[in-house]
Amino acid sequence: MRYLVIILVLFSCTAKNEKADYRPKFHFTPQKNWTNDPNGLVYYDGEYHLFFQYNPYGDKWGHMSWGHAVSKDLLHWEELPVAIEEYVDSEGDSVMIFSGSAVVSGDSIVAIFTSHKSTKQSQSIAVSHDKARTFKVYKGNPVLDIGRKDFRDPKVFWYEPQKKWVMAAVVPDQHKVNLYESKDLKSWNFMSDFGKVGDTTKIWECPDLFPLSNKWVLLISASHPQGGPFVGMQYFVGDFDGTKFSVDDSSRYPLYVDYGKDFYAGITYNNEPGGRRIMIGWANNWAYAGSVPTSPWRGGMSLPRELSLDSDLKLKQVPAVEIESKKVVFDKTDSIEVSGTWIGYNAITKNVFLNRMNKMFPSIEKAPARLIDGKVKLEIFEDHSIIEVFINDGEAVISDQVFPKY
Ligand code: FRU
Repeated sequence: MRYLVIILVLFSCTAKNEKADYRPKFHFTPQKNWTNDPNGLVYYDGEYHLFFQYNPYGDKWGHMSWGHAVSKDLLHWEELPVAIEEYVDSEGDSVMIFSGSAVVSGDSIVAIFTSHKSTKQSQSIAVSHDKARTFKVYKGNPVLDIGRKDFRDPKVFWYEPQKKWVMAAVVPDQHKVNLYESKDLKSWNFMSDFGKVGDTTKIWECPDLFPLSNKWVLLISASHPQGGPFVGMQYFVGDFDGTKFSVDDSSRYPLYVDYGKDFYAGITYNNEPGGRRIMIGWANNWAYAGSVPTSPWRGGMSLPRELSLDSDLKLKQVPAVEIESKKVVFDKTDSIEVSGTWIGYNAITKNVFLNRMNKMFPSIEKAPARLIDGKVKLEIFEDHSIIEVFINDGEAVISDQVFPKY
């Protein structure tokens, strides 16, 4: 019996350590509990804020609130107390704090989020005067209510030419992004909508609209390039005149942001001091997010990526932080193994592939990749349970979670 107990204790310690081994070192994960989308990405007074969808009470989705972390360099994160918690409103209904954004207004940080009730979603605000350490939920909430059950994920930014705030929010089941304007973040006026273009096989979530390389880019979280039960991200490139976003040629779409299974709900920083456009995504997929074998946390963020457009108006993404990576160059069909995962190039199909051999979530990802001067270049970031592969200096990216022992 004594030996049995010792063996059981040893076994449970090993099992625990294996799970701890999955903790990424340079990708953000909360100390404990569930996280999904990054929220309220904003730079203010020397700090990059990362808020995130968070369940303070467990490692499953629920009680959604905004968790909070700060960083000076986008690489080392300090987790702070929960910033905005689920609450009960004046009608006695419980309100979850769904995804949204944050802006700097004077010396305040204002968070604009979706207040989610079982029957309705509307947009609300909360204000902080102490560098986002505490927020006061505005008494006049919601600030934008169109009477819909599904209407969410407000991304707000300052539009300097007309000195006004602009909000992009989705009507998910209609595959539409609505644009609103405001002078004070409290009263909002509908301007236009954009949608029913690209991939509409899944609902649209988490829009982001921003200027990039003399054009405007709209990000949407929705379907995955491989279809199936998986979610992924698309982007559109066009123009925004202060009222309306439009694309030149709708036949170019869909275009996808990432070819791995684990990049969703990506949004970009407001107020970035160097003028860079930096995006962070949730390194997970709704298709299996509830059962990834990590403990005591579940969910984490991608590396921050700096965005640009190439001469064909395609999105390029490069890591926005300096960290060690593996650099590989292939000139014909070839592959290497990284953390029990095969990454390689197929010269016939002209694809970079990543075969994660997890028993629970097996999949082979494929990203289009051309030979440049006879070579395809890969930059591979390997971080315990997250691998990100940047192809040809960011022409395509594959982001996957890998759990070698599962
Ligand atoms: C996207 C999403 C958002 C929503 C949030 C809820 O992953 O479904 O649309 O605001 O997650 O946690």
